[in-house]
Amino acid sequence: MRRNIVAGNWKMNKLFSDADDLVNAIAEELRSYDTSDVDVIVCPPFPYLELVSDVSEDGDFFTGAQNVSKFENGAYTGEVSATMLKSLGVDYCIVGHSERRKYFKETNQDIAQKIDRLLNEDITPIMCVGESLDERESGRYLEVIRTQIEEGIFHLSADDMQRCIIAYEPVWAIGTGHTATKEQAQEVHAFIRNLIREKYNDDVAQEVSILYGGSCNPTNAKELFAMEDIDGGLIGGASLKHKDFIEIASSF
Ligand code: PGA
Repeated sequence: MRRNIVAGNWKMNKLFSDADDLVNAIAEELRSYDTSDVDVIVCPPFPYLELVSDVSEDGDFFTGAQNVSKFENGAYTGEVSATMLKSLGVDYCIVGHSERRKYFKETNQDIAQKIDRLLNEDITPIMCVGESLDERESGRYLEVIRTQIEEGIFHLSADDMQRCIIAYEPVWAIGTGHTATKEQAQEVHAFIRNLIREKYNDDVAQEVSILYGGSCNPTNAKELFAMEDIDGGLIGGASLKHKDFIEIASSF
């Protein structure tokens, strides 16, 4: 059965000492909350993965990366492989975030390869999909999401599909303070779950956690997470404040 999940995406924020303070504050704050029905994941920039992974060993949370190379190993200057992530104790990895699609021209095919690399290392991919404002306003948003899912992840076997997490992040909601309504989010989440049901079967569809991302905060998390097909959130800005982040994680 699908798990409740809250993942914090720190993006390219924090210097090392601030990252140290933040992850320790998260670990401390988690001690006073009952988060037994939610998996909490912290995704810092690459240089802080070892720090976060060390703290997470005694804490009640997991370590995630924000990206991975589509290549295996070798002469790829500046890249970080799934094997390297595994050696640092990374259990989850975001792939295909809209910022990577936009600024680094990542394609659905790149994302499919990254997912394969991660699954080979037993790292859970958190695959992001979402439409732009234009695509929403023109009414094409479900088609856009269908293509992202079909090209990015539907090459997997049913067994591998069940090992993945999907995050629906409408681009117009990311970092804008303009959250999708719970009805808008639920519509797309149900659509994604139905795509999985049609491609595989209902058992697989019920195993895959689908997270919402885009200006999720302590005020709106509860009503979003209460929707039938919303299994948690991928949190950007609010994950940089430990109290807000943990409050979101206890919103189920
Ligand atoms: P936001 O970012 O919560 O700051 O909108 C979410 C994300 O990009 O993962």
